[in-house]
Amino acid sequence: MNIDILLGLQWGDEGKGKIVDALSPGYDAIARFQGGPNAGHSLEFNNIKHVLHLIPSGIFHPDKLNIIGNGVVLDPAVFRKEIEKLGPPVEELTKRLVISKKAHLILPGHRILDAAYECSKDATRIGSTLKGIGPAYTDKAGRLGLRTGDIFRLDFKLRYRNHLEHHLRILKNYDFKFDLSEYEEGWFEGIELLKRFRLVNSEYLINDLLKNNKRLLAEGAQGTMLDIDFGSYPFVTSSNTISAGACTGLGVSPKQIGEIFGIFKAYCTRVGSGPFPTELNDDTGERMRKTGCEFGATTGRPRRCGWLDLPALKYSIMINGVTKLFMTKADVLSGFNSVRVCTSYRVNGKETTELPFEHDAHIEPVYFELPGWNENLTVIRDYNKLPQSLRDYIKYIEEQTEVPVTMVSVGPDREETIFR
Ligand code: GDP
Ligand code: IMO
Ligand code: MG
Repeated sequence: MNIDILLGLQWGDEGKGKIVDALSPGYDAIARFQGGPNAGHSLEFNNIKHVLHLIPSGIFHPDKLNIIGNGVVLDPAVFRKEIEKLGPPVEELTKRLVISKKAHLILPGHRILDAAYECSKDATRIGSTLKGIGPAYTDKAGRLGLRTGDIFRLDFKLRYRNHLEHHLRILKNYDFKFDLSEYEEGWFEGIELLKRFRLVNSEYLINDLLKNNKRLLAEGAQGTMLDIDFGSYPFVTSSNTISAGACTGLGVSPKQIGEIFGIFKAYCTRVGSGPFPTELNDDTGERMRKTGCEFGATTGRPRRCGWLDLPALKYSIMINGVTKLFMTKADVLSGFNSVRVCTSYRVNGKETTELPFEHDAHIEPVYFELPGWNENLTVIRDYNKLPQSLRDYIKYIEEQTEVPVTMVSVGPDREETIFR
């Protein structure tokens, strides 16, 4: 059996959590392959909204196995809070969730460094979620990191202390005040909780599952435009958010990849700094933010909003090899007389469909306008009952991208999902 991948094609928050939850009944296991608690994946059912940061979005299905893969960076304090908030008792959750021994730990020092680095910057401030992501991946690449599998070592505390000393030495170079005890709060309790879970060499587990014809879904975090290599560097996260990241973040061969589901909003949003060619700093953007409840699931920050960006979407499809497109939040655009799609950019007077290398290039979007739709979409469950102008919008996107849109989401609830 192959492993399918679901990942974000924009700047994150495309609705990955909701859709992974909705797709979970069709899979045996759901695995996160990169990122960490910078992610905020929301899902809703029975009128209750849940926000997940580290735990895969299949966790609410009791018969599914959830895997935190080696490519994830895990903060024990966040993990503990999240487990406690989920609902089911820990004994039950230990049956549903396993964690790679090779997943790196986010240490309190990583969070302090994240804050110190951000404070020291001005124009290049990334708008990080300050969860310690960049410094944790830096230590991983620097071969200094501690991994979840290390927590059973007798000298784990000593290793932790040595690592902390290292972070404190770096922090001496920064004019940044902090209270270490605040950052350490809940961290060691989180380590104790982690010890109750199955820490495994998840690459063996995953490959065994595939060999035994089990159906696996890899859940991406962040979005392609935040990828460390292909995003708008330096305004990116510190992992490979793209489909290739699922291979390195889980230990599966590229030959084993099945479908690659690319998820995008009917418009665009971005949290944090960095280029956003179609951003709307006007009433239209404000209306999208309000109607779409566009506020960060992790930090609560207002999300920047704008029209759909086709050159960026096509770029993401190309890098990921997307086989099927999923469109979310079509309902948010209900009530606009017309909707716009950016088809190319004007950079220094020249029209192009290529994303410029320079993050500070002045980009002017060139738009194509289509008729809008007015209906309340949240009650519709049949694709053919969607307003004709929305179906035309989707058809236009399919023609432009040459990838079929096989799912349309019309609301935050699990049920508000239309498969074609
Ligand atoms: P993720 O990070 O990709 O999982 O997305 P987030 O959970 O951060 O942000 C998506 C937000 O949109 C959440 O509040 C979801 O509940 C909500 N959402 C998802 N799909 C839809 C949809 O089709 N319509 C509306 N109105 N909201 C949606
Ligand atoms: P999900 O999985 C949206 C953004 C931050 C910042 C940049 C770097 O919910 O889609 P980091 O904390 O990684 O150092 O932040 O990336 N960012 C996200 N934006 N959704 C996310 O995750 C994000 N994770 C990080 O706002 O601009
Ligand atoms: Mg999110």
